[in-house]
Amino acid sequence: NQFLKGVKQLVDNGLHMVPKKYILPPSERPAKNTEDSNFGKQNLQLPIIDFSDLIGPNRPQVLQSLANACERYGFFQVVNHGISEDVINNMMDVCGNFFDLPFEERGKYMTSDMRAAVRYGTSFSQTKDKVFCWRDFLKLICHPLPDYLPHWPDSPVDLRKVAATYAEETKHLFLRLMEAIVESLGIVESNKEEKDNLIKELEDGSQLMAANFYPPCPQPDLTLGMPPHSDYGFLTLLLQDEVEGLQVQFQEQWFTVQPINNTFVVNVGDHLEIYSNGKYKSVLHRVLVNSSKRRRSIASLHSISFNSTVRPSPTLIDKANPKRYADTDFETFLAYISTNETKRKSFLESRK
Ligand code: SIN
Ligand code: FE2
Repeated sequence: NQFLKGVKQLVDNGLHMVPKKYILPPSERPAKNTEDSNFGKQNLQLPIIDFSDLIGPNRPQVLQSLANACERYGFFQVVNHGISEDVINNMMDVCGNFFDLPFEERGKYMTSDMRAAVRYGTSFSQTKDKVFCWRDFLKLICHPLPDYLPHWPDSPVDLRKVAATYAEETKHLFLRLMEAIVESLGIVESNKEEKDNLIKELEDGSQLMAANFYPPCPQPDLTLGMPPHSDYGFLTLLLQDEVEGLQVQFQEQWFTVQPINNTFVVNVGDHLEIYSNGKYKSVLHRVLVNSSKRRRSIASLHSISFNSTVRPSPTLIDKANPKRYADTDFETFLAYISTNETKRKSFLESRK
């Protein structure tokens, strides 16, 4: 099947129209109807969290901003995060270079095994998607790093080194952000042990990096780079290159998140929604493609380990706030969503 080789391969071979395989039914296209002239033009200014302000006298205000962002948008942006421009640029470049390798080189990593240390693929869920998305990806499992690193691609030559550094630094940032988020939920004063236990679990938790590549698309109105979805974990730390494409759902409309240099877009995942007992929301997002520029992004997804269970924080449950989600073991959750990716939200709803 030619489509399984990915969209970059198609585009490299010369393409002037989107093949049928990628054409969404009209109701699922980026602009539902042609009168929707405003479509895609609205930007959403996500709250900006200055990470350096988490240390020092401004911490209480930053925690308040974090709480507001997680409740209202399920998304925020992080600046002054302490990860150097070099680490970020090297990661973006080395991942981009991976997609520039001959297909034969990339294709070595094609597998349907979700547990593989490396997985190259296309679309969103290529075994299940009826209509394919305009996206190729490289997924790297990161934790524990010494177990997985030797299996990562050794071409481009610096991929392992660069991606390992990036994985470690984003993991560190994730943990510091989670400490702040748990505190913003009011869990620290009342129950320090609970906070410490969660952070410890997350330290040893799962980390998956997905490098995404969206080639230019001749008819971007007919397809999507990624369909509407929420992320499964606690937090996703996303790096976009300079090309816009990410859209976030807010008040039932889609808004574009303009890329800001050196800034992480961070979103609440399903597991944090469960842990917060619904206070913080895992919000739908999607990706648009465009006709002139290729777009790259790198998502780092973090959660508890695969054999753990996520449950609403006992501290957040009382008479006024009854438990809204059943305890959910990661394995069952992943098995469910991997057969039914877009149904994840309804799965969560049904378990309230
Ligand atoms: C994602 O949802 O992980 C991808 C977002 C993006 O490419 O901007
Ligand atoms: Fe996502």
